Amino acid sequence: MIKSRTKIIDILKMQPGVSVLVMGWVRTKRGNKKITFIALNDGSTIHNVQIVCDMEQFKEEELRPISTGACLRVEGLLVPSLGTEQSVEIQARKVEIYGTADPATYPLQKKGHSMEFLREIAHLRPRTNTFGCILRIRHAMAFAIHKYFNDKGFVYLHTPIITASDCEGAGAMFQVTTLDLNNPPRGKDGLVDYSQDFFGRQTSLTVSGQLEGELGAMALGEIYTFGPTFRAENSNTPRHLAEFWMIEPEMAFYDIHDNMDLAEDFIKYLVRYALENCAPDLQFLNNMIDKDLIERLESVCDTTFARLTYTEGIQILSSSGQSFEYPVSWGTDLQSEHERYLVEKHFKRPVIMTDYPKEIKAFYMKENTDRKTVRAMDILFPKIGEIIGGSQREEDLDTLARRIKEMNMSVEELDWYLDTRRFGTAPHSGFGLGFERLLLFITGMSNIRDVIPFPRTPKSAEF
Ligand code: 4AD
Ligand code: MG
Repeated sequence: MIKSRTKIIDILKMQPGVSVLVMGWVRTKRGNKKITFIALNDGSTIHNVQIVCDMEQFKEEELRPISTGACLRVEGLLVPSLGTEQSVEIQARKVEIYGTADPATYPLQKKGHSMEFLREIAHLRPRTNTFGCILRIRHAMAFAIHKYFNDKGFVYLHTPIITASDCEGAGAMFQVTTLDLNNPPRGKDGLVDYSQDFFGRQTSLTVSGQLEGELGAMALGEIYTFGPTFRAENSNTPRHLAEFWMIEPEMAFYDIHDNMDLAEDFIKYLVRYALENCAPDLQFLNNMIDKDLIERLESVCDTTFARLTYTEGIQILSSSGQSFEYPVSWGTDLQSEHERYLVEKHFKRPVIMTDYPKEIKAFYMKENTDRKTVRAMDILFPKIGEIIGGSQREEDLDTLARRIKEMNMSVEELDWYLDTRRFGTAPHSGFGLGFERLLLFITGMSNIRDVIPFPRTPKSAEF
């Protein structure tokens, strides 16, 4: 009996003539009285290994319970394959069934399924070819992100998930409490008395690790966070999740131009990493999901992103002759139709837009001398719109305190944050990359619910 299992990704690279042990799930089974072919997949690669059972050596009833979805342990001899799809296959000597999958109830039969249907069975969809590819690419990208920053000497900083501050000031936070919601303690004013709550104050799930990231950058120089973030905005779109992962580098001594250079280099590195390390999975997605995927990924690596100010962007949009659903005027936030016009029609490449009106951006962004705009930078991508949001930070204590008040936020609550400006303040910058928005671009998928294993969206938190 062979003891150690070989993964299918390695089997397919081996020379024939050796005995092997594989374990995995049946994708298809076919054959006749003389021979049975089983396509087995173990998740290590998009490719299956073909198991060939000579029916002179197996009893028919022994193999009968095997159907799509069943889990098998197979020992056999690796032999050259006569088929054209693979160079080797396994001549089975011993087949053990770990678990059957009743064809009457197992939902993933051979036919293709819609993404909507697969979302309803998100607990099983990793077993499909498409989601296998996506989850392997998701892993590779997470690894590449750590590698990129580690190679550059950035420190991975773990920022808290539970927080008492609202970084983006948008108020779209999920509250965290252990109070009895049916009977919360109340103060004299009739309001809920959070001093009796678990943390002795009102707390929420974080929308961003940036504020704590800035504390790290002002001591360690260059840091990054990579963690889950939560937004309770009721956005039912193909680009919004209530729980998503964000990568937030924060760098002392970077101005907005250094920040843009890093962001552009970072994204190109990740795309190149995917092209070099995820080729079979990208090829599958290119064939099945999006025929232009690989070409688009390659073109992003080769082009220089367009850089322009918000004011220039508004001018281009106003004189475009296009009729937009939302009218364009200086001071309003860009809608996704505007972003996509600039990226897909006007520049035909990714765009970095800077210097937005301060009213539509967060309190921490550095004010320009015009006092109307801030040193924000958003990176806009084809099909996705905003993939990165960042800025140079306001390092001046008085200006920052004024901005906090102007935004009706509490200077007292942010006292710890203001200490960075009180003690050894420095110019610094950072940005946030939405991990799932990146994955939308890399995989060519069109709905953000399909690039995270278990999506959380309004009215949906199953599994
Ligand atoms: O532009 P945002 O809100 O910026 C921040 O949170 C800053 N604190 C980042 C920083 O400067 N350190 O979010 C950053 C990115 C967006 O560009 C987008 O890619 C992604 O996070 N994002 C979302 N992704 C999925 N679902 C949502 N609801 C998202 N909201 C933002
Ligand atoms: Mg943003």
